[in-house]
Amino acid sequence: MKTTDNTVLITGGATGIGLELAKDFVAKNNTVIICGRRAEKLSEAKKILPQIITYQCNLSELHQRRELVEFCTQNHPSINILVNNAGVQREINFLNGEADYFNGESEIAINLEACIHLTALFVPYFVQRSEAAIINVTSGLGIVPLSITPVYCATKAGLHSFSISLRYQLKHTSVKVFELIPPIVDTELDRGARDRRGQKDKGVKPEIVSKEAFEGLTNDQLEIPVGMVKILKIGSRITPELFLKMINKKVVNPSASDGK
Ligand SMILES: NC(=O)c1ccc[n+]([C@@H]2O[C@H](COP(=O)([O-])OP(=O)(O)OC[C@H]3O[C@@H](n4cnc5c(N)ncnc54)[C@H](OP(=O)(O)O)[C@@H]3O)[C@@H](O)[C@H]2O)c1
Repeated sequence: MKTTDNTVLITGGATGIGLELAKDFVAKNNTVIICGRRAEKLSEAKKILPQIITYQCNLSELHQRRELVEFCTQNHPSINILVNNAGVQREINFLNGEADYFNGESEIAINLEACIHLTALFVPYFVQRSEAAIINVTSGLGIVPLSITPVYCATKAGLHSFSISLRYQLKHTSVKVFELIPPIVDTELDRGARDRRGQKDKGVKPEIVSKEAFEGLTNDQLEIPVGMVKILKIGSRITPELFLKMINKKVVNPSASDGK
C-alpha cells in the first residue's frame, strides 16, 4: 500500500515499537496521531516529533476507545490507518490462582479487546476511504507461547486469528489488514521482568521492526514476520515441541523455572 500522505493512529505510539513506527510514518509525510496513558511519555514523544498529534487515553476503558475514535474522525477526518500496537505483558503463575491473575492490568482488555473494538469503530469509516489499513501488532509468542506469560501469548494468538477473519471479511473493500509479527524487541514492554529473570537476550532494536514493517507495507505483504519470526513460523509447524522448548529455554532462567 501507499505509505505516504496517510493519516495514521498508532495506539501506544509514545514508546518502543510504536514510537519508531511514528518516526518513520512522519518521515514519509504522513499525519500521525499517537495515544497512551502516560502524559509524560506523550510529551517526550512530542519533543522528538513536534509534528505528531498526541491524545491521552486508557484503552482498557470502553468509553475512552469511543472518545478516541470520535476525536480522530472529527478532527482528522482523513484518517485511514489504524495501528493496533498498544500492549502490556505480565508474568502470571496459575499455581498462585486468582490472586496472581488479577494482580495487574488486563492483557485481554488491552492487547485483544481494545484492538477488536477499535476495529469495529473504524471499519465502517475506513470502507468509505479509497485506501485504508488496519495493522495489528501481534508477536512471535502468538505462534509459540512463552509459558510464564500465558495470557499475553493467548491474546497475541487471538489477535492473529482475528486478523485472518477480518482480512477475509474485508477482502472486497478498500481496507487491507496487515499483521506485524515482531520477535523479542528491546523495549519496556515487560517493565523490567527480563532483567529480573536474568534473560540475556534483550531482542532486536525497535528500529529494525519498523524498517521491516515498512518493507512489508510497501509490498502489500499482509503478514509481516520480523527477524527470527520468519524461522519460527515455519519451524514451529514442522517441529512444534522443539520450538516450544527452545523459546521457553531461551527466555527463562533455567534455575528459576521449569524451562524444559
Ligand atoms: N517488546 C517485545 O519484545 C515485543 C515483541 C513482540 C510484540 N510486541 C508488541 O509490540 C507492541 C508494542 O510494545 P513495545 O514492545 O513497543 O512496548 P512498550 O514500549 O511498552 O509499548 C507499549 C505501549 O502501549 C501503551 N499502552 C499500554 N497499555 C495501554 C492502555 N491501556 N491504553 C493506552 N495505551 C496503552 C503504553 O503506553 P502507556 O503505558 O503510557 O499507556 C506504551 O506506549 C505491543 O503490542 C507488544 O505486545 C513487543
